[in-house]
Amino acid sequence: MPRYWILARGIVLTSPVFKPDDMLRIRILHGPNLNLLGTREQSIYGTLSLDALDSAITKLAKELAVTVDLRQSNSEGELVTWIQEARAAYDGIIINPAAYTHTSIAIRDAIAAVGLPTIEVHLSNIHQREEFRHRSYIAGVAIGQIAGFGPIGYLLALRGLHNHLTASGCLKNITGSSTARQTARRTR
Ligand code: DQA
Repeated sequence: MPRYWILARGIVLTSPVFKPDDMLRIRILHGPNLNLLGTREQSIYGTLSLDALDSAITKLAKELAVTVDLRQSNSEGELVTWIQEARAAYDGIIINPAAYTHTSIAIRDAIAAVGLPTIEVHLSNIHQREEFRHRSYIAGVAIGQIAGFGPIGYLLALRGLHNHLTASGCLKNITGSSTARQTARRTR
């Protein structure tokens, strides 16, 4: 997209410049065993590696002018810490808690505690699988759940969260010195 347009009579129209501090920031967390994507149970989770998935997410984030922070952990405590830390510096969370979806009250409590809009993602349709996967401790504190679309689910989540955050007025004031979002970040 051009940064400026030269109109008749030398009038120059500039496009809004997104300074890093004006950009939405979203933390994206992958839970246990997702580091094995691409080789793990390919008939369920496909052949795309985590690195390739993260690249696709980063590409979309650039298009949407969103800053993303992507992390994977096999440890419940580390995921809880990353959720807690997000409170001060991020506008929302996308999380695939993997097996912790079905067991972790700690991750649920962390999401509830920080109060950031959170989308739960699963590559597979957990509701079509074994009974123990039907229950999600996370769904009750998420704004939504996306399951069954494979890697595209993360892209849908990013678009959905971006839409949720902008539609709720976070970026309405990007030209001002202090956006509602920045104020919220400071006071959280
Ligand atoms: C998963 C589904 C979980 O039940 C499972 O434990 C995972 C991956 C998914 O993305 O489909 O590890 O979250």
